[in-house]
Amino acid sequence: MATPKPEILAAFEAAKGFMPVREGLALYDAAVEAGALGLPLLEVGTYCGRSTLLLADAARAAGTVAITVDHHRGSEEQQPGWEYHDPTVVDPEVGLMDTLPTFRRTLHKAGLEDHVIAVVGRSPQVARAWGGQVGFVFIDGGHTDEHANGDYEGWAPHLAEGGLLVIHDVFPDPVDEFTGQAPYRVYLRALASGAFTEVSATDSLRVLRRTRAGV
Ligand SMILES: C[S@@+](CC[C@H](N)C(=O)[O-])C[C@H]1O[C@@H](n2cnc3c(N)ncnc32)[C@H](O)[C@@H]1O
Repeated sequence: MATPKPEILAAFEAAKGFMPVREGLALYDAAVEAGALGLPLLEVGTYCGRSTLLLADAARAAGTVAITVDHHRGSEEQQPGWEYHDPTVVDPEVGLMDTLPTFRRTLHKAGLEDHVIAVVGRSPQVARAWGGQVGFVFIDGGHTDEHANGDYEGWAPHLAEGGLLVIHDVFPDPVDEFTGQAPYRVYLRALASGAFTEVSATDSLRVLRRTRAGV
């Protein structure tokens, strides 16, 4: 199993975000494997860059780049009054969340800015405008069915054969109203398409491989 160097793991642990270390290690291992295809590694859901650090380091090792997409206004469960809200990432001037400055600091501190293309925008819009193939798709964006399906429908068609589709927050049993089960339904949908086979499951992180075209 590919593991990140201690300084990368330390940066991951220090970064704001929600991903536990065990899942981060599985994400890193998958990103390193997919990097061998020599295609960009794509993430939906940058937030403050915690998972992006791992993709950036894997991309650096493979001589490719990590692309991370987020509107930086936060998901439903991160808005004021909700459990995952962090008031330190609100822009006081516009009164909305803005995780972009924190993300940029995270990446800068880790020395990984040169290995990431950050796209600020809505995932389905960016996916429609995206022209090329990617070797890795990591879905960690909005957790409603609309958003999770939009991420899958937008990005899975860009995933090359042999590439890896990684889905976060896959909970076969309901955990709470915030995380929901939309990622689980997207995971089932990907398997039911016949275009993906499961490679590994680590807590709520699922890694699937594209074995033929289709979504
Ligand atoms: C769970 S957080 C991502 C966590 C991050 N991967 C980490 O490891 O810390 C989800 C992110 O998805 C973003 N998001 C939600 N829906 C989106 C959409 N339709 N397009 C782009 N970004 C979206 C939110 O702004 C939020 O930053």
